[in-house]
Amino acid sequence: MPSKLSSEDIHVGTVMEAVFEPNPVEKSRDFLYRATKLDGKRAPKVVLSKDPRIRSGVRCLVRVTRVEKKQREDRGYIEVELLQLLEFEIADMWLDPIVSRKLQVLLENGRNILLDGPQGCGKTVLARSIGTAMGYEFVFFNCSAVVEATDFIATLQVRSSESGAPVTAFLPTEILIALEAAQTDHRRRFLVFLDELNRCPESARNALMPALDTTRRIFNPITNQFLAIPDTVQFIAAVNRGDEFSGTFNIDAAQLDRFAPIAMDYLPAAEEVRMLSKRYPEVGDDTIRIVVDIAQRIRGAAELGAGLSVRATDEVCAYLSHPVFAHDRAKMLPEILKDSFCGRYGGRWHDATTEAGAAWGIVQKALRESQP
Ligand SMILES: Nc1ncnc2c1ncn2[C@@H]1O[C@H](COP(=O)(O)OP(=O)(O)OP(=O)(O)O)[C@@H](O)[C@H]1O
Ligand SMILES: [Mg+2]
Repeated sequence: MPSKLSSEDIHVGTVMEAVFEPNPVEKSRDFLYRATKLDGKRAPKVVLSKDPRIRSGVRCLVRVTRVEKKQREDRGYIEVELLQLLEFEIADMWLDPIVSRKLQVLLENGRNILLDGPQGCGKTVLARSIGTAMGYEFVFFNCSAVVEATDFIATLQVRSSESGAPVTAFLPTEILIALEAAQTDHRRRFLVFLDELNRCPESARNALMPALDTTRRIFNPITNQFLAIPDTVQFIAAVNRGDEFSGTFNIDAAQLDRFAPIAMDYLPAAEEVRMLSKRYPEVGDDTIRIVVDIAQRIRGAAELGAGLSVRATDEVCAYLSHPVFAHDRAKMLPEILKDSFCGRYGGRWHDATTEAGAAWGIVQKALRESQP
């Protein structure tokens, strides 16, 4: 089988596989990506695409949309559009395979995503990893600090002028800086992560709505004009229901409807053990298994409102791996859990009427049961 394709093999509508790199050629800069092979064989002309959803280095299924200068061997190009990314992998974290597949579809479609999961289940890490894996510049924005609708875009600063009189000025937020950069340079792609979206006032959240639907624009108080949001900007929001009992979302139906919700949960025990063993090999699998088992019991306890973050199990292992605890790990484990697990709940570990006390009860029972 020849390793080079001929012009006869390529027609408008042909579907093939390609791996792209950023297009380095200045005069064809409109084309963001370039490939030299199709279906693993050398293409008769350079393969170019304007599709910003392509990721360099990742296998893509593409469709030929145009063949420029078909008859000339030495000129022209093959233009393609992305049909589908053929690989979707998030490094450095465990991701539920179904969530992974849903994310792939949503990201390919540029939909706004709402990550909904208990505290410390990996929402922020996931958003960051998507950013890295898909070549987005990551913009972290904590919505809990938002009071006014304009706070998403600019913050009002008061400073003194040369005469000493106070002057007010708008300072752009990271979101505005990213939106403006995306407008001026269509090669840059941004992932705007709206953390704790449920923690800002509803009226402020309403200002975001046109940015999140097909209108794709937001009011810029600095210029007093609406700013169009390019397709190269992807929004991912996260909500933390916190206390399961009081934990309604506080986001109204119309706002929610602008997102594709993805429910997340803590990683399965075996995966948490694997992850912690990799991070803290000194601690030993048996001890890590006990720590994760206790965490799982606490997470499943109906009397405890909030979940127990993976930060807590990680913290326990960080203690245990340190030389100051290395020689008497088993003896120190209960002492460490008093703070790292029970201390994350209200009250005190020695007061059984409080949540911390209830957590301590679970810890003691699990430790007894773990004894050989
Ligand atoms: N699925 C996972 N894979 C790998 N690490 C994880 C995973 N889930 C949680 N972690 C670890 O737990 C820590 C907390 O995760 P992260 O900050 O993403 O949680 P979160 O869901 O954003 O929490 P919060 O609701 O408090 O904002 C991370 O530093 C990460 O190391
Ligand atoms: Mg977070």
